[in-house]
Amino acid sequence: MNWETLTDYDALSDRAAKILLAAIRRDPHIVLGLPTGRTPVRTYERVVSACSREYHCFRDVVTFNLDEYVGIEQNHPGSYFTFMKRHLFDHIDIDPANAHIPNGAAPDLSAECARYEKAIADAGGLGLTFLGLGANGHIAFNEPGTRFDSRTRVVALTESTRSANASFFPDGNVPTHAITMGIATILESKSIVLLASGEEKRAAIERLRSGEISEQFPASALRQHPDVTVLIA
Ligand code: GLP
Repeated sequence: MNWETLTDYDALSDRAAKILLAAIRRDPHIVLGLPTGRTPVRTYERVVSACSREYHCFRDVVTFNLDEYVGIEQNHPGSYFTFMKRHLFDHIDIDPANAHIPNGAAPDLSAECARYEKAIADAGGLGLTFLGLGANGHIAFNEPGTRFDSRTRVVALTESTRSANASFFPDGNVPTHAITMGIATILESKSIVLLASGEEKRAAIERLRSGEISEQFPASALRQHPDVTVLIA
């Protein structure tokens, strides 16, 4: 694992945006895995402002989001679909047909999960995937106890994850389930960048540094991957 400690959240966001944009320059058809949450917000801001100068940044890029809540419509204000439109997709030249997010409102959720896995494979697999980190070590919505050979599926959210994300649901109706890429799905990405910023991630970062590899600590699966960069601030 390559570890980079940045001076602050701004510097981490600059670095992550540079990695993302350099990857697109190297391969304009790259397949990206993309996270949501508070951490990547400024990275996306940086990407958007760079892309307003570099015409056609995302013209041929394909993206797959890591996860989406179940039981809310795509255009619900708390959905990851809404998040991605607001922070990235509405401001860049991506073809909406190339911007994939699991559909948590699909009538047949297991068919939707299978469809999503197949769409990733049909696109040639993930090239570069960005991840946030849950305070409990979750990546995407793979909570502690998730098997490392897991694929895209429906999961129940832990109470700690629901309360960490409660502010996105001011009506108090925080979803109980989500669709998430599995750990095996994520590990098939050629390169991975993990973003962790703030006090509440310190303990998880220290645990990741410790070298422990355990299904009780999902992020530790990344230790088995040959090309992971961890950006910390
Ligand atoms: C959420 C998301 C994860 C995200 C993590 C950290 O529950 N499903 O993909 O990485 O929690 O979020 P934040 O960046 O807001 O701390």
